[in-house]
Parts: sequence; C-alpha cells; structure tokens
Amino acid sequence: MKKIIVATGNEGKMREIRMIMKDLDVELVSLKEAGLEVDIEETGTTFEENAVIKAKTIMEMTGAVVMADDSGLEVDYINKEPGVYSARYMGKDTPYSIKNQNIIDRLAAAKGEERSARFVCAIAVAFPDGRILTSRGTIEGVIAYEPKGTNGFGFDPIVYVPEYGMTTGEMDPDFKNSISHRGRAIAGMTEQLKALKTL
Ligand code: IMP
Repeated sequence: MKKIIVATGNEGKMREIRMIMKDLDVELVSLKEAGLEVDIEETGTTFEENAVIKAKTIMEMTGAVVMADDSGLEVDYINKEPGVYSARYMGKDTPYSIKNQNIIDRLAAAKGEERSARFVCAIAVAFPDGRILTSRGTIEGVIAYEPKGTNGFGFDPIVYVPEYGMTTGEMDPDFKNSISHRGRAIAGMTEQLKALKTL
C-alpha cells in the first residue's frame, strides 16, 4: 500500500482526512507518526501557495508523497482579510472572542450582502517526481451581527451560513465536516488521487 504523509499536527484534521479518504488504497501517516517535527514558514500570498510550500518542503525532506493544507477566512468588505493571515490575525495569542468582535466592529457599516465571507481551504499533494496536485473547497456565509454557537473553533461563531440558518459555530461537528471548506477540499483531492494510475 502506498503511503502519504499528511503535514498536520492536528489530530482532529487527521481524523477528518482519514474518514473522507477511507476508500483510497493509501496509508495516511501524520507528521508525528512519521517522526517529524517541522515548523514551516507560510510565505505564500494564497492558500494554494502555502499548501504547496508545506507539501513540497516535507516531500523534499522525506522523499515521500506529502499532503498539506492551508485554510482561513475571507471577508469581502475588508479586502478579503484576514485571508492567509487568519491564524495570525491580531496576534496568535489573542483570544478569538476579541478577534471575532473586532471583525464585527469593522463591518459596522456593512449591510446584507456586503457582509459576505467564506472559509477557504486549499489542499496540495507533492510527489517526489515533481507532480503537484491542488484542490480548493469553500463554504459561503455572511459575517453575523453577533457571535453565536460554542461548537468549532476560531472564527466559527461569526460565520453565518444562510443555507443552513446558523453559524458554523452552531453546527454539529460531523455535519460541519460534511459541508465544510476542508471537507470539500479533501473530497476533491480524493477524486483526483483516485483518478491517478500511479501514486
Ligand atoms: P490553518 O489552516 O489550520 O492554519 O488555519 C488557519 C486559521 O483559519 C485558523 O487558525 C482559524 O483562525 C481560521 N479557520 C480555518 N478554518 C476554520 C474553521 O473551520 N472555523 C473557524 N476558523 C477557521
């Protein structure tokens, strides 16, 4: 069975990836399971660039097939901020209660569709022979007028998804995974990997 190293230290993401990719005939190995400890600087200007940087760097270190992701929140009214800086917005150690309120405050003058926003996830797979695959998933919403919901993490309480009448912070975790930016990006990558003759 072929092996893919998944460049994440996050157990929750690892579980989600394993679940969605269960039909693929590959062994998915986390960084920890591969005995790797790496901190890669995300210098890209797009989610895809950052995912490719991470996947390629670890592929070059290990000679293995490597999958990496990058995700974040784009808020249209403020020029798609925080974007690729989502994890670093207002400083890594600032609580999300403060970051979320800050985004709501910055949108004080925005009404209706002007509040549009989306979670974006890019997945990249880098192969030792130089091939690179990428896949993008999004979930569209609007920035809520106040935070709601205690599920999820990060910006979940302020992203209201009209289609489901709730914020992603109010969604049951399994349901959120089934419709999320990450879930969709992983599913897209699964299809691309299935279509390959050789991994
Ligand atoms: P990373 O891709 O794990 O580095 O995530 C980047 C950042 O984007 C996170 O730290 C969160 O601030 C934000 N983010 C990405 N996906 C989600 C989500 O599903 N809910 C809430 N925040 C998210």
